[in-house]
Amino acid sequence: MKEEHFQKQIDTEQKIEPKDWMPEQYRKHLIRQISQHAHSEVIGMQPEGNWITRAPSLRAKMILLAKVQDEAGHGLYLYSACETLGISREKLVQQLHDEKAKYSSIFNYPTLTWADMGAIGWLVDGAAIINQVSLQRTSYGPYSRAMIKICKEESFHQRQGYEIMAEMAKGTPEQKTMAQDALNRFWWPSIMMFGPQDSESPRTGNAMKWKIKRQTNDELRQSFIDKTVGQAEIIGLKIPDPDLKWNEERKHYDFGEMDWEEFWNVVNGNGPCNKQRLAHHKKAHDEGEWVRNAAQEYAKKQESATN
Ligand code: 3HC
Repeated sequence: MKEEHFQKQIDTEQKIEPKDWMPEQYRKHLIRQISQHAHSEVIGMQPEGNWITRAPSLRAKMILLAKVQDEAGHGLYLYSACETLGISREKLVQQLHDEKAKYSSIFNYPTLTWADMGAIGWLVDGAAIINQVSLQRTSYGPYSRAMIKICKEESFHQRQGYEIMAEMAKGTPEQKTMAQDALNRFWWPSIMMFGPQDSESPRTGNAMKWKIKRQTNDELRQSFIDKTVGQAEIIGLKIPDPDLKWNEERKHYDFGEMDWEEFWNVVNGNGPCNKQRLAHHKKAHDEGEWVRNAAQEYAKKQESATN
């Protein structure tokens, strides 16, 4: 009965709220996906944070600071949404530190030049917009509301990145070369953000049945490619895929085979920066313990003062 009522709520587009009955598998799937999404937001601050002290102008520095700060906030919204499923933030962070939880593969690539800030904003946040706009319609209420809030900020992230790439592409020959190099290094890892092909994706079946996801990994990946190819052409940069070609019949771009060995390598912890990202997170977490203790102490004092 409960299962039927639950599926009826899903099928009739009613949001599932924290106090609603839900199948244990639905809860587990959501905890997995939302926590990995939150971890991605927080770890994602590292590659960009690397360039805050080296931004080429005060304006560029202010924009990058604002963007990185937004990502921290996205992580907090998502951890809060995940906690409504009955798991503590401490436990989620521990799973990350114990390498029992993942975060997006894209953040395991190094940021070598300022143009990488442009490529990340344009491509990584561009991919995130495609994925997260779709997730605004996810069946779990707190996750859907977090997505709506996050999506409002993502367009600024994508535009500031595209502006950096456009400026450099029309700058000196060295700047254009730097922008093209960043596109060459970030293109394929960005389309890997959408996950394995649907035929290889163990979670997509339930994700679609329970409307956790509203579109599949391949659908979202195709939508991103279709939207992005024109943007590269406008600024005179070349997407590093010799098989990329508009297919008039399909009304989509055909594109080359992805390097799935690289994908699973990075997803399973053996990418260029996986070890460094985790070590940095652990160090920052340990160094921030006194802040968490002080905030909790203050909250306790406030609570006893009002009781
Ligand atoms: N990076 C890391 N892990 C990945 C991955 C990737 N690109 N793609 C898939 N995986 C993992 C999955 O988490 C799953 O691992 P698990 O079983 O241990 O949980 C496994 O590989 C199998 O993949 P599936 O395709 O079956 O998993 P999903 O159907 O859940 O698809 C996903 C993976 C596309 C990441 C999906 O979970 C999703 O859409 N998550 C929400 C969005 C998200 O997390 N985005 C990450 C980027 S963060 C971001 O965009 C921030 C922005 O500000 C830049």
